[in-house]
Amino acid sequence: MMLKADKVTKAYGGKRILQDASFHIGKGEFVSIMGTSGEGKSTFARIICGTVRPDTGSISFEGTPLWHTGTYHPASNYAIQLIPQQPFASLDPRQTITAALMEPLLFHKISRSRSEAQARAHELLSQMHLGPELFSRRPGELSGGQAQRALIARSLTLTPKLLIADEATSMLDVSSQTDIINIFRTLVEKEHISVLLISHDQPLVESVSQRIYQLSHGKLMEI
Ligand SMILES: Nc1ncnc2c1ncn2[C@@H]1O[C@H](COP(=O)(O)OP(=O)(O)O)[C@@H](O)[C@H]1O
Ligand SMILES: [Mg+2]
Repeated sequence: MMLKADKVTKAYGGKRILQDASFHIGKGEFVSIMGTSGEGKSTFARIICGTVRPDTGSISFEGTPLWHTGTYHPASNYAIQLIPQQPFASLDPRQTITAALMEPLLFHKISRSRSEAQARAHELLSQMHLGPELFSRRPGELSGGQAQRALIARSLTLTPKLLIADEATSMLDVSSQTDIINIFRTLVEKEHISVLLISHDQPLVESVSQRIYQLSHGKLMEI
């Protein structure tokens, strides 16, 4: 199993958000967590990504605990990437989208030269259906859907194994939403990346997921 959560519990100031939540996702699986607003979906995503500490329970990635004695140990090689709800908040407004992708490629020495990084950036942007006319644009010159696709392209620079999309399409119009969901589908089918889609949108979740969990009153149940 790629990611496995076992009996995770979390309370905020005495208010129980997650109660013995267990969950798993395998390689190349498209799994969703559904639930109405305020049920704790983002809290669960943040526990996986290390920004919220669970009270009890265990979470492991490829057999290695992510949380151990209260400390988060990130999966190696940035294997887990979060796609947030608000793409514009995660992109530098002064940077072109090509530069936004070249930065991690050069910083992590994935590309050996600026020209190689630029070529890889353009390749990833094209894969996300962002054409050459958009390569030099800054976030302010993009639609929400285009910005979200640029952000997905940026997360792919680090060849993640698991993408967590926390309401990543809920700010978008229906056609941009379909675009992004189709991109996730292709990543699952062609690259065997795992996608965890977190959404309150039941028809959307039911149309794309291989398995679905429902989060309700702190309980995470497979349906
Ligand atoms: N840092 C925090 N401190 C206190 N309460 C929080 C915090 N983060 C979230 N909550 C509360 O926990 C509940 C679940 O929040 P959240 O995980 O964001 O739900 P969802 O993503 O399903 O809408 C909400 O009632 C929210 O107000
Ligand atoms: Mg949320």
